[in-house]
Amino acid sequence: MKKKLIAGNWKMNGGLAANEALVQALRAGVGAPACAVALCVPAPYLAQVRELCAGSALNLGAQDVSVHEQGAYTGEVSAAMLRDFGVRYCIVGHSERRQYHGETDATVAVKAQRALAAGITPIVCVGETLAEREAGHTEDVVKRQLAAVIHLNGHCISEIVVAYEPVWAIGTGKTATPAQAQTVHALLRAQLHAASEKSDRIALLYGGSMNAANASELLAQPDIDGGLIGGASLKAPDFLSIIAAAR
Ligand code: 13P
Repeated sequence: MKKKLIAGNWKMNGGLAANEALVQALRAGVGAPACAVALCVPAPYLAQVRELCAGSALNLGAQDVSVHEQGAYTGEVSAAMLRDFGVRYCIVGHSERRQYHGETDATVAVKAQRALAAGITPIVCVGETLAEREAGHTEDVVKRQLAAVIHLNGHCISEIVVAYEPVWAIGTGKTATPAQAQTVHALLRAQLHAASEKSDRIALLYGGSMNAANASELLAQPDIDGGLIGGASLKAPDFLSIIAAAR
């Protein structure tokens, strides 16, 4: 069976002192986990968190990457810069970036391409809004979002990670039921299978109010290979419980 992946998305949270306390607590508790673990931290803290994680099972992740390789793009961070800091994973196409920063399916596909070219595993986020779910469009939306990434990156699609994050479940305390999540994961699995013979190695994460109490049941679903955790990744005991549930 493939190793599960538990990735924390700190979003725009943290500070030098808080990061140190959190990572020390995670280091102290994580040991040799059965799953892979990543911390996707704000860009200014990559250097700090890299040092704090050194020699542990905690891998470094970023939350975004530029579509550009280099040059006059004020404020952007390139994939090569992330690689310089030892970044292993990079979230691309999070719904908060689609919603607040106008990222399109095409933008997200290029970001995944940039990460892959730098040897960084993109964690490609897909997910429907509440209105889309209620209108019966969940399948169309997630398939369209993933299709754009497959279209541009088909040759190395087995190197990506996919995260299904229903927008209505993010930060709301409303988790998709294990059955709801599994249904969408099975659709995404079939879509990846049609695109690549090596699709079995692609981890499909669930994200959206995953916590210490609901992680086991979600992670027990056949097509849920891990989690992308927001709020609960900022509390060491909660994040450690989720890691322990991923075996
Ligand atoms: P929450 O776990 O806070 O709902 O956030 C999920 C998420 O957006 C992870 O990327």
